Amino acid sequence: MAEWTKAAVLKTAVPLRVPWVRIPAHPLFVRTVPKPPLPIAVITMASAEAIVLVTGAGSGIGRHAALALLDEGYTVILAGRRIEPLQETAAMAGTATERAVPISADVRDPQSVRGLFSSIDERYGRLDVLFNNAGISGPNVLLEDLTFEEWQLVVDVNLTGAFLCTQQAFKLMKQQEPKGGRIINNGSVSAYSPRPHASPYTATKHAVTGLTKSTSLDGRPYNIACGQIDIGNAATDMTRKMEDGVPQADGSLAVEPTIDVQNVAQAVVYMASLPLDANIQFMTVMATKMPLVGRG
Ligand SMILES: NC(=O)c1ccc[n+]([C@@H]2O[C@H](COP(=O)([O-])OP(=O)(O)OC[C@H]3O[C@@H](n4cnc5c(N)ncnc54)[C@H](OP(=O)(O)O)[C@@H]3O)[C@@H](O)[C@H]2O)c1
Repeated sequence: MAEWTKAAVLKTAVPLRVPWVRIPAHPLFVRTVPKPPLPIAVITMASAEAIVLVTGAGSGIGRHAALALLDEGYTVILAGRRIEPLQETAAMAGTATERAVPISADVRDPQSVRGLFSSIDERYGRLDVLFNNAGISGPNVLLEDLTFEEWQLVVDVNLTGAFLCTQQAFKLMKQQEPKGGRIINNGSVSAYSPRPHASPYTATKHAVTGLTKSTSLDGRPYNIACGQIDIGNAATDMTRKMEDGVPQADGSLAVEPTIDVQNVAQAVVYMASLPLDANIQFMTVMATKMPLVGRG
């Protein structure tokens, strides 16, 4: 039996044990009936073996992705700088709270990231999925007025943070048995099209695409898959300002539509659930009527 069979069975067990159906011409599985109680054996297997790390799990997309993964039976390490929001996320998980593990870590800091991964290694000896989600948007100021510190902060969180976590994930995933795992990077539609006055955010999200491609290539020998989710206007703290209007390319302000963050959380669950020989390289989940498509 190939070494990956066990992990593949574990991952494919996730969609099989809940009543999902595929809607024709719909890219995702949609739950149509209430979820029945899970068989004890399946819960134990998932919680014991499928370990996920979500960075930025104390709010927004990270919180809702973590809760959706917990709901599917994964054990989820919740990382972020502030412990209180991470503990709140864990408390929101209901009966899955015992599989939610808050750990304070700053993704900008190599020592802090090493400590986070040492804790995961000591506790579980493996990591199956890393969701590189922590990110910040930066101030909305003219490019020429941005300070060096403002630029550097966005680069440190959005790009260096994702790299440092990827590097530590490689070290763990390449030596664990079964070998390998999956890394999901949180890009953005800003990975292909900028908003006005958002040079550090746009530059770092374009760079995340490069990191995703390099990770996919360099991960092949170790059975590490890497994909990227590019989100447009999910309703979180980061996008709250859209309720008052955000700058458009023509200089006007416009209120933009947002989508329920659950749409993103379910997409992350689907990406995470694939067997390692299959990968969603890039997936865009965005508000249908946001101005991005159609140049306005
Ligand atoms: N919402 C959208 O429509 C949208 C669109 C495109 C892309 N995204 C991406 O989605 C990700 C999450 O965004 P969101 O909308 O959920 O925003 P959010 O609610 O502001 O969440 C950001 C999270 O990142 C954490 N974080 C920030 N700096 C960190 C650091 N140095 N180390 C560890 N954690 C850190 C924050 O927690 P602490 O402050 O406690 O550290 C926070 O929980 C970002 O990468 C963002 O670029 C979002």
